[in-house]
Amino acid sequence: MKEQQIFSSNLRTRMKQRRFTVFVKDLFSRFKNQVRGGSLHVTASIVLCLSIGSTVVILVMFINDHVKKYLASSENPCSYLLCNSSLSSPSLPPLIQSPNASGSLSDLIAPKELWHSMKDKELLWRASMVPHIDEYPYSRTPKVAFMFLTRGRLPLAELWEKFFDGHEGLYSIYVHTSPEFSEQPPESSAFYNRRIPSKPVEWGGATMVDAERRLLANALLDFSNERFLLLSETCIPIFNFTTIYNYLINSKQSFIGSFDDPRANARGRYNKRLCPTVNISDWRKGSQWFELDRKLAREMVSDVKYYPVFRKHCKPPCYMDEHYLPTLVTKRWPQLNSNRSITWVDWSAGGPHPVTFMRKDVSEEFLKRIRNGINCTYNGSITTVCFLFARKFHPSTLEPLLRIAPSLLGFNL
Ligand SMILES: *[C@@H]1O[C@H](CO)[C@@H](O)[C@H](O)[C@H]1NC(C)=O
Ligand SMILES: *[C@@H]1O[C@H](CO)[C@@H](O)[C@H](O)[C@H]1NC(C)=O
Ligand SMILES: *[C@@H]1O[C@H](CO)[C@@H](O)[C@H](O)[C@H]1NC(C)=O
Ligand SMILES: *[C@@H]1O[C@H](CO)[C@@H](O)[C@H](O)[C@H]1NC(C)=O
Ligand SMILES: *[C@@H]1O[C@H](CO)[C@@H](O)[C@H](O)[C@H]1NC(C)=O
Ligand SMILES: *[C@@H]1O[C@H](CO)[C@@H](O)[C@H](O)[C@H]1NC(C)=O
Ligand SMILES: *[C@@H]1O[C@H](CO)[C@@H](O)[C@H](O)[C@H]1NC(C)=O
Repeated sequence: MKEQQIFSSNLRTRMKQRRFTVFVKDLFSRFKNQVRGGSLHVTASIVLCLSIGSTVVILVMFINDHVKKYLASSENPCSYLLCNSSLSSPSLPPLIQSPNASGSLSDLIAPKELWHSMKDKELLWRASMVPHIDEYPYSRTPKVAFMFLTRGRLPLAELWEKFFDGHEGLYSIYVHTSPEFSEQPPESSAFYNRRIPSKPVEWGGATMVDAERRLLANALLDFSNERFLLLSETCIPIFNFTTIYNYLINSKQSFIGSFDDPRANARGRYNKRLCPTVNISDWRKGSQWFELDRKLAREMVSDVKYYPVFRKHCKPPCYMDEHYLPTLVTKRWPQLNSNRSITWVDWSAGGPHPVTFMRKDVSEEFLKRIRNGINCTYNGSITTVCFLFARKFHPSTLEPLLRIAPSLLGFNL
């Protein structure tokens, strides 16, 4: 059966071929006759018709191709519909599952855990990053970062707890301690889990500035922190939270004490080896307890020009924590600084250390005097509110301070 089929199909093919040969031969002989008979123009017409036909076919194919491409291109509004229908196909997973999913924006806005394993160099690099779009893609409430530089526990923590109470979301706390200190306050405390990875600090040495930069860098990782305040364990607030928050958030300048003084304990500490990076007319002195806006905080952690020169050439009797920041800011961004500290201190007794106040010194009268004792400028206008904090308060002052706080400072009764 099969062989028969193959035989017959072969036969059919051969018969077709023979018929075609006969047709071509016939056409050829007719052509010869026509050439001889002078009827060439009939053949020419046929050739012309055939070529016009094929041109039309090619043209139709070409146009068809272009129409398809045009439909698919984005110039056509209809093509959005085509793309959109394929995008919304259920086989693709949703891009964002929950606002906390890893890889979400919340991971970048603020670290979930304060503790980390970054080395200082890695931390400073991470903290030096700046967004280049001014508008935040989320609702941002600016916060004040309270950065405590202490040896161990905060003896006046109870006063600070009362100060912070009820203002959650407007502040963040960072604590740098001695590395061996590992005491954890109760979970209900504002200081719970707020210790940052710390290193040993030597009084008056460069490690003090390293600790300040470490605090700033950790606080910069939270994009909501707008103002950065350095405090010691002997500092107290002398106004309520609302007053302090508004004063800092609404100030167009930072508060870094900065002055030029020809005497031995200021210009006298200048080291010629700092030249030419810093010359004697650039040299400034100021209190270590600064308050910075976000720009200056970022500049301080990302300074790779002045910092190494100070580290190398500003050694006792040059104290880096009293000269580095005032000199840097005055040289680079003088208009961003008010040149005054907002932390009150009493140097009147003379000597290398300011007065430490004891239990017997603390009274309502005393605190009132500190609050409105002098005139200064704030945002370009004169004010009597020049200090928001004060130091140095001995642990024994906690009891009288807690007694005065409700009436004078208005913290929770
Ligand atoms: C795209 O598809 C989504 C969901 O299928 C729909 O909500 C949206 O309106 C569509 N967009 C356009 C431009 O058609
Ligand atoms: C997302 O984060 C918020 C605040 O950090 C938390 O209250 C909430 O429980 C988290 N949700 C999930 C699903 O993890
Ligand atoms: C201080 O100046 C800045 C910038 O001009 C302004 O935004 C802010 O409201 C001012 N603060 C006060 C308390 O006037
Ligand atoms: C110090 O440097 C500043 C530029 O930073 C320059 O204007 C000033 O004249 C220099 N002063 C001295 C004493 O060299
Ligand atoms: C702070 O001091 C610098 C340098 O002396 C000066 O340019 C700047 O105007 C001062 N700022 C204020 C608020 O006085
Ligand atoms: C502060 O300025 C006011 C007037 O503006 C003046 O009466 C007062 O004596 C000044 N206070 C001090 C401590 O200089
Ligand atoms: C905070 O202090 C200011 C003035 O110092 C006062 O007007 C305000 O009522 C106080 N706020 C609270 C909550 O006590």
